[in-house]
Amino acid sequence: MRAIEISQPGGPEVLRLSERPLPQAGVGEVLLRVRAFGVNRPDALQRRGLYPPPAGASDIPGLEVCGEIVSGDLDGTDLQMGQLVCALLTGGGYAEYCVAPAGQCLPLPAGLSPEQGAALPETLFTVWHNVFERGQLQAGQTLFVQGGSSGIGTAAIQLAVAAGARVIATAGSADKCAACTHLGAELAINYHDQDFVDAVLSHTAQRGVDVVLDMVAGSYIAREQRCLAEDGRLVVIAVQGGLQAEIDAGLLMRKRQTLTGSTLRNRSVAFKSAIARTLREKVWPWIEQGQVRPVVDTIFAAEQIVHAHQRMEQGQHIGKLVLRWV
Ligand SMILES: NC(=O)c1ccc[n+]([C@@H]2O[C@H](COP(=O)([O-])OP(=O)(O)OC[C@H]3O[C@@H](n4cnc5c(N)ncnc54)[C@H](OP(=O)(O)O)[C@@H]3O)[C@@H](O)[C@H]2O)c1
Repeated sequence: MRAIEISQPGGPEVLRLSERPLPQAGVGEVLLRVRAFGVNRPDALQRRGLYPPPAGASDIPGLEVCGEIVSGDLDGTDLQMGQLVCALLTGGGYAEYCVAPAGQCLPLPAGLSPEQGAALPETLFTVWHNVFERGQLQAGQTLFVQGGSSGIGTAAIQLAVAAGARVIATAGSADKCAACTHLGAELAINYHDQDFVDAVLSHTAQRGVDVVLDMVAGSYIAREQRCLAEDGRLVVIAVQGGLQAEIDAGLLMRKRQTLTGSTLRNRSVAFKSAIARTLREKVWPWIEQGQVRPVVDTIFAAEQIVHAHQRMEQGQHIGKLVLRWV
């Protein structure tokens, strides 16, 4: 099969097309013929040598695909051979075939193309767990999302709005802010021009927000604490602004704040399969009713993988970058 491999750590140009043997599905796994695969920021970190695949994972990058089940073990699932599914992977998605745990496969929602389906898994699993399970966002509460126009951010805004919550987002340009409000954020703050603490407090009449979804960390943590309401939850999913952060222990106590975070890739199949079941029950109906749609910035041919990674590195995209095998 054709696959895209990382020839050596480096920039987008180190990604190259190669020939690989077909992977073998084991117990509880299926072999998928990949129609389309999504690009995620963690793929760029892996390409640079900063995010090695966990033990047992393929060295081929790629955390999400939409593909057709061609063989494997479907025991205990209601999936069928030949069905198109969206699958969350620990790696191996940048290939014509990949292996996925059957429990991490969800049917392609009605009305979506395989390219749209490939844009769903990484963002939905991540947002569901961090915003609704760790962050405990409830209807009527307010979510503050950093990076609202990212793949993760566009999913977070839509899921929160569908769940009956209010959303404030940040983004780095007027166009990206407009995309956030179009998706349902009631306030989008251009973080280059405006202090987000002032903007959030002023918008919430000084009360603050219930949950912050943070992908920056570093100096943002203490500022985000100032945005939190009493009993607020701050959930960290990335450290683009640095690993080390100061916390305001006074605010932590006085406002009974919770500071938490997680990474998805290293979690067990059982954990991810449980999220898949919840997504199917709660989020798949929202997608099929049109309340939640994957935001796809550009669809490339798989051979254009270098261009796709260059676009991600330039940071001009809104939503997801997707590639397809033709
Ligand atoms: N923990 C997990 O399980 C998990 C899983 C998946 C992804 N992630 C992380 O989630 C993040 C988003 O992933 P993605 O694939 O959706 O990537 P992406 O589309 O490239 O998004 C990166 C986002 O970070 C924003 N950003 C960077 N610096 C910022 C700052 N100083 N203030 C506010 N926003 C800032 C960018 O905003 P502008 O473009 O507007 O500047 C952009 O929206 C990545 O950092 C990724 O590593 C974590």
